[in-house]
Amino acid sequence: MERRLQGKAIIVAGAGGIGDELARRYAREGAVVLLGDIDGAAARAVAEDIVAGGGTARGIALDGADEAAIAAAVALAQEAFGGLDGFHANFASFADGMGTADVTGLDLADWDEVMRVNARGAMLCARHAVPALVARGGGAMVWTGSGAAYIGEEMRVGYAMAKASLGALMRHVARTFGPRGVRANVVAPGVIAHPRFAEAIPEDMQRGFREATLLKSRLGRPEDIAALSALLMSDEGSYITGQVLSVDGGNTLRA
Ligand SMILES: NC(=O)c1ccc[n+]([C@@H]2O[C@H](COP(=O)([O-])OP(=O)(O)OC[C@H]3O[C@@H](n4cnc5c(N)ncnc54)[C@H](O)[C@@H]3O)[C@@H](O)[C@H]2O)c1
Repeated sequence: MERRLQGKAIIVAGAGGIGDELARRYAREGAVVLLGDIDGAAARAVAEDIVAGGGTARGIALDGADEAAIAAAVALAQEAFGGLDGFHANFASFADGMGTADVTGLDLADWDEVMRVNARGAMLCARHAVPALVARGGGAMVWTGSGAAYIGEEMRVGYAMAKASLGALMRHVARTFGPRGVRANVVAPGVIAHPRFAEAIPEDMQRGFREATLLKSRLGRPEDIAALSALLMSDEGSYITGQVLSVDGGNTLRA
């Protein structure tokens, strides 16, 4: 594999099915990676595994909805790695994901939680990462969005609204800080199967998701998201900014 991220320092905020693979891929391409998750032990375990495999990574407890924690993570990367070249905000709350209620009956506490973590947290990441990227002479912000923002699901309207908000945030960052070398993009996954997902979603539902893609052969994998994200973090992606890029097997066919 090409080491397109050699010499770059990248924070991945949010481990888990997709985030673990983002950290592994960035490290395999040569980046030093700070992986944070609200489950600090899980983030540390992945970082240790990366280090055991010859990469450079550090895992920390990080609440992506907590401004002080985000600021501290950025400061840690600058101190430990000498600066920051990339920030991938990948964490999410799925607080309204288990219900079947539409907007008329949704639990407002769940809605508030999803907006607090997925919209406000995403904004806090930019608020603290962008100055560090500017100080470095430029860099890349990537947010993990979701096809849910575009397809009009019958439930989890808070999740969809929060993910849709990432587009506005990303375009603001791209326009405002582009002249200072900061690129900003959203990667919007379709259904991405990983062990945590497989535990939560019954097999017949997974088959339905597979049928809904244009390719039909398989569901998405964390590797699919990591491949595009690594391009966006690398100098090969240096002319890509202000975009929402779907990785969904052709599911949404967004214009
Ligand atoms: N898997 C899919 O099908 C799919 C589809 C579309 C979008 N996404 C998006 O991909 C991203 C990763 O999802 P995943 O499928 O890997 O799920 P996951 O549950 O495996 O990972 C989510 C991670 O976020 C962490 N987290 C939750 N709240 C946090 C907080 N406040 N601060 C820090 N970490 C926090 C969790 O501990 C977990 O490790 C999310 O943004 C999700 O919305 C996933």
